[in-house]
Formats: sequence, structure tokens, C-alpha cells
Amino acid sequence: MRITVIGATGATGRKVMERALELGHEVIAVARRPEVITPMARLKVRQGDVLDAPSIAKSIADTDAVISCIGPTTNFMPGTVMSEGISNILAACQRAGVRRLVMQSGIGLSDGKELSAVNRWAIRILRRIFSKAIEDKAIAERAVQRSDLDWVIVRPAVLRDVAATLKYTADPSARIAPFLPLPFSDCADCLVRAATSEPTWVRKIVNVGR
Ligand SMILES: NC(=O)c1ccc[n+]([C@@H]2O[C@H](COP(=O)([O-])OP(=O)(O)OC[C@H]3O[C@@H](n4cnc5c(N)ncnc54)[C@H](OP(=O)(O)O)[C@@H]3O)[C@@H](O)[C@H]2O)c1
Repeated sequence: MRITVIGATGATGRKVMERALELGHEVIAVARRPEVITPMARLKVRQGDVLDAPSIAKSIADTDAVISCIGPTTNFMPGTVMSEGISNILAACQRAGVRRLVMQSGIGLSDGKELSAVNRWAIRILRRIFSKAIEDKAIAERAVQRSDLDWVIVRPAVLRDVAATLKYTADPSARIAPFLPLPFSDCADCLVRAATSEPTWVRKIVNVGR
């Protein structure tokens, strides 16, 4: 498949790109600074800023699926990169006829029903501390859920730059441990699965963690 990865310079985006290539897919990496991406076989790099709708519309042309790994630079001053960015990505997918959109979100968006009592309480505190970032991402999630695309929202636990295990839990409403670190590479594997297979995940929110 030909997969577009938006936010390809980020900690998760880089791993998504690598995993998709490893699995034999063609990848279009979209980044504000395309020059920082190392050229590889089956990889095309396009310039795009999610706050600039025309650049995103151009960057996702001719793809089968889009994976968004965008995020704010800091959760304390998140701005509107998620709400505005995802809205522009949705419009671009609709215009280009791309059906499958995978949005990387976070377990902090969970209302906690599927989590243990302790983790539910901890997530509530986290939501208060990062209320602006949570609200911006919630607007983005709602826009994705309202769309008629074959979307998958992936909510990872806290992520760390450690070696892949490929042993993780991922499913709609899966009970995961939000603060038990998951390798970025495992999250990347889950995002690629959401874009290329897993028909039962379509139009669902998938938790990924341990
Ligand atoms: N890290 C974690 O522990 C964790 C856990 C759960 C969920 N999440 C969520 O998962 C997502 C990805 O996390 P991450 O840690 O991989 O993030 P990250 O390393 O900060 O990467 C964010 C990516 O978004 C890109 N970006 C930001 N604004 C953009 C814009 N206007 N146009 C195009 N690209 C833009 C950045 O590009 P530049 O390189 O140009 O800045 C970067 O590639 C975020 O939404 C984050 O909140 C993270």
C-alpha cells in the first residue's frame, strides 16, 4: 500500500515510517522540514504544514491511507495544531478520496471507564494538568468521529524510546496501563496495522499499551 505519514519527523512518526517501509509499503513522509528526513528506498518526502490546508491537500495526493502523528511542541501551550491540523487533514482526505485515516491521540482522552480505578483517578489528574492540550485533541477526535471516513483513533499509553517488543495490547476499549511505558516502535506497529489491516478497528477508538 502507499501510506502517507504526517508528522514524520516526530518520535512516533519516524518509527511509523520505518515500520511501514520494513513491511514493504511505499511511504510518503510529510513534514514541515522535509530536509531532516534521510532518503530511503520506497520513501517520498513532501513538504507540508497541517496549519496550511493547501500544502496538506497536495501532500496526500495518490495515497491509500493517511497516518497522522502530529502533536504540539509542548502540552502546556498546545495551541490548535490538533484541532486545526486534523480538520485540514480530514478535508484533504475527503477531497482526494482517501478513505482510511488513522489519528494518533493519547490515553489521556479516555473517560477512564475501561481503566482500573487507580488509573482512572490518575488520568483525571493528568487531564486537569494538561486541560488545554486535552481539549484541543478532543476537538480533533470529535471531528474525526463525525467524518464519514474509515477512521481509526489510536490512544497510546505513555511512550518511550526503547527497543520494540511487538508484544503489546491493542483493541477498542482495551484495558491498558496508561503510565507503563510503551516503545514508540510498538505504537508505530499498531498505527501501521490500523492503516493497512484490522477491519474490526474501523470507526473505533483503539487503546494501545501494556
Ligand atoms: N510521547 C508520548 O509519550 C505520547 C503518549 C501518548 C500520546 N502521544 C501523542 O501522540 C502524538 C505524537 O507524539 P510524539 O511524541 O511522537 O510527538 P513529537 O515527537 O512531538 O512529534 C510531533 C510531530 O508533529 C509535527 N508537527 C507539529 N506541528 C505541525 C504542523 N503545524 N505541521 C506539520 N507537522 C507538525 C512535528 O513536526 P516538527 O518536527 O516540524 O516540529 C513532529 O513531527 C502527539 O499527539 C502526542 O500528544 C504522545
